[in-house]
Amino acid sequence: MEWATCEGSVLFALVTVPRMIPDENSAAHPHLDTELVHHGRDSEQQFGFVNAPPYRGSTVVHKTLASLDEATRADAHTGDFIYGLLGTPNSRELEGLLAKLDGGAGAVVVQSGLAAVHIAIASHLSHGDHVLMVDTTYGPTRRICDEILPRMGVSTTYYDPSIDAGIDALVQPNTKLIYMESPGSLTFEVQDVRAISEIARARGVLSVVDATWAPALFCRPIELGADFVVRALTKYEGGSSDLLLGAVIARTRELLRPVKVYADDLGSLAHPEDCVLCLRGMRSLSVRLQHHQASALHIAHWLQSRSEVARVFYPALETDPNHTLWKRDFTGATGLFSVELHPTAREDIARMLDGMRYFRMGYSWGGFESLIILAEPGKGRTASRWRASGPLLRLHIGLEHVRDLIADLEDGFKRMS
Ligand SMILES: Cc1ncc(COP(=O)(O)O)c(C=O)c1O
Repeated sequence: MEWATCEGSVLFALVTVPRMIPDENSAAHPHLDTELVHHGRDSEQQFGFVNAPPYRGSTVVHKTLASLDEATRADAHTGDFIYGLLGTPNSRELEGLLAKLDGGAGAVVVQSGLAAVHIAIASHLSHGDHVLMVDTTYGPTRRICDEILPRMGVSTTYYDPSIDAGIDALVQPNTKLIYMESPGSLTFEVQDVRAISEIARARGVLSVVDATWAPALFCRPIELGADFVVRALTKYEGGSSDLLLGAVIARTRELLRPVKVYADDLGSLAHPEDCVLCLRGMRSLSVRLQHHQASALHIAHWLQSRSEVARVFYPALETDPNHTLWKRDFTGATGLFSVELHPTAREDIARMLDGMRYFRMGYSWGGFESLIILAEPGKGRTASRWRASGPLLRLHIGLEHVRDLIADLEDGFKRMS
């Protein structure tokens, strides 16, 4: 990684990342940045217009019985369309792009990231099965395991995110699925996806990674050995905080099939307008990620120098305990990280947060705007302990100028003291 000074005296980290499709880095196989801009767009089919319109609709008409029969029998990802709920040109275009970026055999897009989580977990499970779930997972994913799966007769064991190959000892004869989330979205523990996926494969267990923090330009879990990737496209892929969408990307067509059937049976196909918005967001994903990363690194370094801050949790920092694993498996870091403050009263934190100018308080992340929340990382954990004496603030570094973001944080610290 090299550093350069930019106009306006902002330090930008210029990251050289190998973002070709592996083994396909010739002119015939475009760079992923080019793929992002061009994939699936066919202006000739759209009267010359650059973008496809949203194909709103339920009914798709066929001219002959043979054509309808053929479409009904065909592969849901490649055959003719038969009904709006089962796929539209927009969902298919987005699925094709996602599969290409992640190096998967195919993808299914659904109404939200949480729907994708649910479908990735439930589509392969039956009564009596067992799931291994990372302890630092997204809260609602935990609720699925605690409240919905038991009603289906499926049990869950939580494991410490640093378990690595030790996961082997937790695999039971009825374990069907190992679920990872890397890094966790509050305290950013990077999991050893390679080691865990290898053990899953050897034990005949499916592996799933929620990789929402790092879009495929920065991390491709299927290449690390995982069977499925879950992505909340709501975040960086959408990029504007104006849609909810999720995807499950599968390593093989065989693995994809039950996911598609389950998603269809739930009636959860993504709305065409959201797919159009998401595709629009993805055309500029690469440049946005570079900006999020450069600003986040700069601000993370600045925060490390502040007396109010005890620790910064950002795997891209060399001082972060997850840095080595991150460096091995990721080619970049996004704009989301956390800071542990020295012990501070809640009213003092409220004084800081209530007066922020650019960092607004709100859940989610990945949009163009900066966000800040007071997080509770220990809540719900059962297999790992959260050891911190001070409160945790999670920051999303948006696309504003870092000078203004730092000034905002600096003023906030002044209000706190
Ligand atoms: C890691 C992770 N996975 C999944 C989701 C769910 O995404 P959505 O909000 O689109 O349902 C979120 C949402 O915050 C998340 O942080």
